[in-house]
Amino acid sequence: MTDVTDKIFIDFMQMRSFSKNPLIFTRGEGIYLIDDKGRRYVDGLSGIFVNSIGHGNAAVIEAMTQQLHRVAFTPPLLGTNDAALRLTKQLLEIGPPGVSAVKLLSTGAEATEAAMKLARQYFKQTGKPGKYKILSHYGSYHGATLGALAASGGKDRKSIFEPLGGGFIHFHPPFLRRWDSSLVQDETVFVELINRTIEAEDPDTIAAVIVEPICVNSSGFMVPPQNYLRRLKDVCEKHNILLILDEIITGFGRVGTMFASEHFGVVPDMTCCAKGMSSGYAALSAVLINETVAGAFYGDEEDLVQFRSSGTFGGNPVSAAAGEAVISELLRKGIVENSRTVGAHLRSRLEELASEFSVITDVRGVGLLQGVEYSRGRVGSAIAKEAIARGLLLRVSDDFTVFAPPLIITKEEIDDTVELFRDVLRTVSK
Ligand SMILES: Cc1ncc(COP(=O)(O)O)c(C=O)c1O
Repeated sequence: MTDVTDKIFIDFMQMRSFSKNPLIFTRGEGIYLIDDKGRRYVDGLSGIFVNSIGHGNAAVIEAMTQQLHRVAFTPPLLGTNDAALRLTKQLLEIGPPGVSAVKLLSTGAEATEAAMKLARQYFKQTGKPGKYKILSHYGSYHGATLGALAASGGKDRKSIFEPLGGGFIHFHPPFLRRWDSSLVQDETVFVELINRTIEAEDPDTIAAVIVEPICVNSSGFMVPPQNYLRRLKDVCEKHNILLILDEIITGFGRVGTMFASEHFGVVPDMTCCAKGMSSGYAALSAVLINETVAGAFYGDEEDLVQFRSSGTFGGNPVSAAAGEAVISELLRKGIVENSRTVGAHLRSRLEELASEFSVITDVRGVGLLQGVEYSRGRVGSAIAKEAIARGLLLRVSDDFTVFAPPLIITKEEIDDTVELFRDVLRTVSK
């Protein structure tokens, strides 16, 4: 086969160095991925927070195959299909309280863009057309398309494409430890700062706040204080601003509850879903919309209040069949509970490592989304290389590593994974 490894753009990788030692996966089995040389890797990151129910799940493959035989695509502008309706019914059942409508799409960025557009259109057709601005965290990531990127707050991924569209305002997330490890976590100052930002911008110009419950991307792995999101919701309510939770990483059991909103005791106006929703078996995303917002889009033909946005693959029957089967597996096999109990086990094993290796300065996370932070800058790239060499795939940045294995992982498999990581730390610490 002609070598084209230097002809393919891989996310955030230099093509020349990638082609010198390309990682090419050819198979997956449960929590493992296998490369073209037959090497096995623990998929400690579920691809990229995606494959929650493991590779090669027979029930999902069967459901998708049957759907393919029935129909693979139906006209999205003229109607829907039975698979999309079954998935919608499930999402209404498992979604946060108050969800009363669903927009099905294909990617995470499409979901965050749709939620922000829904917010703007909602205020246009409920008598507040001046509310258009979107507020979000510095350091956040909401997708790679230009609107989602404008809402994102990490300069690494967006500055090269600037200037981006207007109307996007950022505020600091409540994570003092990222600034100074001696500072105590407290949300009060941050909540007050958001209040002040909203006042300064003029609440009558703000449509929505969009945040990830746990920020895993460009600027660190940030778990907010337990009351932060609830208090953020209070601030939003006070100013008639919609709260959009980007649960693209945290949804579908990743944090030990179906959604992180349940863990943090907050009820959003809209929830963005993707990744674990189909566990990677198909491109699938959604916006879950509460009754108040959905109500503004519910009318007769002459009312013209329908959402003015589309997506060719939104509600695709094969993707919907994948989502339906994945959610059924999550519920039938108690996978969300497994995420909670095995996640607690992973946490305690990582805390053991922290007492053994002084380079680890913090362990944090919820459910099967756990991370360790390092004291020394740039140790991350050495850890990433060593981990891959030992058959362990993780999310590694300069100063932290995130573990997000498939939610079906057992305690024994966690122990094996942590042992592998211990070997990585021993080698790198030398
Ligand atoms: C929190 C969050 N939001 C949105 C996205 C964008 O999703 P996608 O890459 O499917 O467009 C991502 C992707 O990593 C994400 O982590």
